[in-house]
Amino acid sequence: MFDPYTIRKDFPIFERKVNGHEIIYFDNAATSQKPLQVIDAVKDFYKKHNANVHRGLHTLSQEASELYEEAHNEVAKFINANSMEEIVFTKNTTEAINLVAYSWGLHKLGEGDEVLTTLMEHHSNIVPWEILSKIKRFKVKYVNVKEDGTLDYESLENLVTRKTKLITVTHASNVTGAINNISKISKLAHDNNAIIVVDGAQSVPHMPVDVKRLDIDFLAFSGHKMLAPTGIGVLYAKKELLEKMEPFIGGGDMIRSVKYDKAKGCMIEWHHLPWKFEAGTPNVCSAIGLTEAIRYLKRLGMENVQEHERQLTQYTLKLLQKDEKISLYGPSDTSIKCGIISFNIKNMDYNDVALLLDNFGIMVRSGYHCAEPLHQRLSIKGSVRASFYIYNTKEEVEKFVDVLKMIEDVG
Ligand SMILES: Cc1ncc(COP(=O)(O)O)c(C=O)c1O
Repeated sequence: MFDPYTIRKDFPIFERKVNGHEIIYFDNAATSQKPLQVIDAVKDFYKKHNANVHRGLHTLSQEASELYEEAHNEVAKFINANSMEEIVFTKNTTEAINLVAYSWGLHKLGEGDEVLTTLMEHHSNIVPWEILSKIKRFKVKYVNVKEDGTLDYESLENLVTRKTKLITVTHASNVTGAINNISKISKLAHDNNAIIVVDGAQSVPHMPVDVKRLDIDFLAFSGHKMLAPTGIGVLYAKKELLEKMEPFIGGGDMIRSVKYDKAKGCMIEWHHLPWKFEAGTPNVCSAIGLTEAIRYLKRLGMENVQEHERQLTQYTLKLLQKDEKISLYGPSDTSIKCGIISFNIKNMDYNDVALLLDNFGIMVRSGYHCAEPLHQRLSIKGSVRASFYIYNTKEEVEKFVDVLKMIEDVG
């Protein structure tokens, strides 16, 4: 196991104070803080290697291209993909899911087909499918979520039919922290000739994720939630799927040739994988930051990351469960819950709670966390969300719980 106090020394942001208090950063589900190793890698790139990738024959362009490709390789190894051909860099999870919708769904889905998603999804795994369903006239159906925030597997099994072409599901809820059984869902999808898309935004940064073991067809996640800079996301896809898919965005870098013919116009040959899906100048420096972020997490060990957050979650739940003024949402069993705790204080507005916590340097999220259907399902308008990462400590949890008690007394 690692020591979060040692880890904190790598994160310069914890040197600053907010409202006279040391920062307690519990908004990790939104984005993580960045260690010096990542910040330095980005700085180093601009100081020593900056050039565009895949274009020049000169030394700097060669170096930048190698670093950019190395980032794809590092991601492939991290999630146990077969090779970097299966790793497409996007802006974020949202863009990765949209890539699946438009490169796969636009061509494969039509009237009479059904896409299954769930009531616990982030809007980024609902809205693209709803938009596309209006164009292609397929149906989007919603798997139920139980009162305790866990997925209703019976509802899922009942909804799967021969019409189901795709099941898209989050690995872990960004509201309740509930972890879904992806092996079970991928088997169900494949037994019914459907494909599975997994939103890994809240899983890949926090636990070991093996795309082969889970038999995932598409996996989307964001670098900024796992120590890397913003602007870099990942779409993993099985090679045989990517090979058959049409590009998402057209332009430079994603083609092998564009030949003009007076009669036929331009004849285009796509670049090989993964470049066919990466049009235009990519976010090179953030990709290099992602390489360092993954190396940092690998040094800690993803099992240890998960266990550290599990212990913090269990401890927080133990302290909050005693408090009658607090309503907690989601499962309490930490073997199926990641480090995310959403709650409300009775008779207090969630935004007021977040603002009061900020007065003590404690950063949490309030609102519906881009998951309005789940809040509707739980019969609440919004919630306060505390979410943990590698640098959070039990001491911070105790301070947070003490401040919550003071807030309750004010409310
Ligand atoms: C479960 C889940 N999916 C998708 C997203 C969207 O991530 P991004 O904004 O990086 O695209 C988030 C962000 O909070 C999330 O928690």
